[in-house]
Amino acid sequence: MTQDELKEMVAAEALNYIPKDGILGVGSGSTVVKFIQAIHRNHIKVDAAVSSSNKTTQMLQDIGIRVLDPNECEPYAVYIDGADEVNDSFDMIKGGGACLTREKILASMAEKFICIVDKSKLVTTLGKFPLPVEVIPMARGQVARTLQALGGRPVLREGCITDNGCEILDVHDFMIPDPASTERAINAIPGVVTVGLFARRGADVVLYATEDGVQKKVRP
Ligand code: A5P
Repeated sequence: MTQDELKEMVAAEALNYIPKDGILGVGSGSTVVKFIQAIHRNHIKVDAAVSSSNKTTQMLQDIGIRVLDPNECEPYAVYIDGADEVNDSFDMIKGGGACLTREKILASMAEKFICIVDKSKLVTTLGKFPLPVEVIPMARGQVARTLQALGGRPVLREGCITDNGCEILDVHDFMIPDPASTERAINAIPGVVTVGLFARRGADVVLYATEDGVQKKVRP
């Protein structure tokens, strides 16, 4: 099975987690694209959504789903999004698609984070995937020096301006045995908008696609 087929499989399974009514939080990335296509194909009713990127907003609106400004919403039930890596403690690296800040905001408003991945995203220790850090452009140099001092190798993502008008440093060669404290440390660097570590608010459910079907892990 290709990775694409696995993504399709997990995206279809995620339809079962859409609340009957109320707001749905929708993330970004290629797995989420398949999720939105599956909503459309299966004529699933979604009252309204909040979205983590301009691209997701456009796709949702194109299939007739009303997208709300999170400022107009109360905390809501379910947020569905992909990830670049997930460990056994439900911590994640996200931001491969540069949408990490809005993803974190929407995740913080949701009662349940349903993470949808294919099995290649499951890891023992986070960090093989370069850790995205969104930065205010004028702070890029100093943030990069600080990330280097923490042991990583930050590389500017060329040609990437986020939906918030900021830049992304991808931190390579940086294994993360203690995601919560690394998240705290990087968040504290002046000029950092968001670090793509989701540990303080990790996933509640991980759905992961394998050749034998979609498996589920639930946070104890
Ligand atoms: C977007 O910024 C990311 O956080 C995505 O959730 C993550 O990169 C996973 O993307 P794919 O579904 O494309 O693998």
